[in-house]
Amino acid sequence: MKHVIVVGSGIAGLIAALETSRAHSVTLITKAKLADSNTRWAQGGIAAVMFADDSVEEHIEDTLRAGAGLCNADAVEVLCTEGPARIRDLIRLGVQFDAQNGELARGLEAAHSHPRVLHAGGDATGLSIETALVRAVRGAANIRILEHTFACDLELQNERVTGLEILAPDGQRQTLAADAVILASGGAGQLYLHTTNPSVATGDGVAMALRAGAQLADVEFYQFHPTALALPGTFLISEAVRGEGAVLLDADGGRFMQALHPDADLAPRDVVARGIALRMSLQQGQPVSLDATAMSAEFLRTRFPSIDAACAARGLDWATRPIPVTPAAHYWMGGVRTDLWGRTSLAGMYAVGEVACTGVHGANRLASNSLLESLVFAWRCADLLLGIEPAAEQRAAVFTPSNWPETTLEVESGDAPAATIVDRLALRKLMWEAAGIERDATGLAAASDQLARWKAGGSTVEELETANLLLLARVLVTAAAARLESRGAHYRTDFPEPSDEFRQLRVCLLACLLNTAQKVGAGC
Ligand code: SIN
Repeated sequence: MKHVIVVGSGIAGLIAALETSRAHSVTLITKAKLADSNTRWAQGGIAAVMFADDSVEEHIEDTLRAGAGLCNADAVEVLCTEGPARIRDLIRLGVQFDAQNGELARGLEAAHSHPRVLHAGGDATGLSIETALVRAVRGAANIRILEHTFACDLELQNERVTGLEILAPDGQRQTLAADAVILASGGAGQLYLHTTNPSVATGDGVAMALRAGAQLADVEFYQFHPTALALPGTFLISEAVRGEGAVLLDADGGRFMQALHPDADLAPRDVVARGIALRMSLQQGQPVSLDATAMSAEFLRTRFPSIDAACAARGLDWATRPIPVTPAAHYWMGGVRTDLWGRTSLAGMYAVGEVACTGVHGANRLASNSLLESLVFAWRCADLLLGIEPAAEQRAAVFTPSNWPETTLEVESGDAPAATIVDRLALRKLMWEAAGIERDATGLAAASDQLARWKAGGSTVEELETANLLLLARVLVTAAAARLESRGAHYRTDFPEPSDEFRQLRVCLLACLLNTAQKVGAGC
């Protein structure tokens, strides 16, 4: 029996912990409560081929098309092929998907050729999955749960990860030894001023992995969801609402997406997000609106209960009037580079879910593929650690990166001596303006200069998170400046077209230590 540490308690962490605990002892670490994660906020659902009129081949095609030429095709095949069996496993674990006429109900989202998005509790899919998995994890014999415990840094010996340094709830730093560490700590929406992600999404796992010397990939690709409520306390308005027929309107009440893409309001996310951003700039920053008034109040209440409640809480009646929406940072396609079994470039360390980059999403994730990715790849990683026979070609004991052209960049992970302490809000504004939906060389260079003039300070959880965000901002800006083309979610106004030179080129990031201690908050 091995001892495995899992960091993070969204769908990826819970599945990794649950499955691995069948043969190993597991410590599951989460910096908030067990049920606090990005997963619980996922609305639209989870895409999988569960119907006779659909096919895995078409799901693969849709995923590749959305990924704008950059997907790792092997990862896409794994995702779409293994997805249906994993959905059946979720049902076995207690997730109750919505049903209609005796079969699974399914919705349509952007860039899917068929309705194949399963949902639960209407628009509470993430919450339903999280609740069932938390129950299963709490009932598992071999899992020790450490809540309110912050993972600071990985412990390394002879280039192998041997454990984790944590900040315990009592404020003490401790070292936990492990035979394997699985990072499942999610994305970093808090890099941006506007985000659909909860406050816990500060990219701690990606930052920690980079400091330990792991390779990152595709970090320039951050997906912006087109429709978040444009009111304080940003709230996601699921793409499934447009899938059911809602349309976007400009300030004059006119539809504008039809002129921009044949799929209009259901065009790929990057296209809709940019279309909205352009329209907002033409109407002096005023948000556009989403018109769902063609649907009845009863339908909206039962199909989208969470959104309905969020609107009502803000005094909006979306059955009778369009609601204001704006794009917001939603999902990071890049992350810790892994193979198809969650192995990273560091022995003893694995990564699954949004923290990882298998390349499955390429330059732009297809709607509702993220819960599926977490489920499928966390399961595979657990299978690997359980020694369940992987296919012959996967038997290699070490990380085997995808065999694609790549360029390697270095990013400074330490702080310059004269730097001043970074303010998190200022960092988020800078990223929104310079490395958001649209980027260009001038803005990215100015952002890079500003980021170099900031340093992190302090040793509270919030300060350690900010240190992670600062490192990741540098990483993202460095990679975005290097990709001299537009592709998927990475849109350069100075290079508005995709370029053959960058087609399938993977930008990999390595840390270069500047001058300070490697560990976050060390010496504070
Ligand atoms: C949504 O419900 O629009 C979000 C689903 C996703 O991000 O895949």
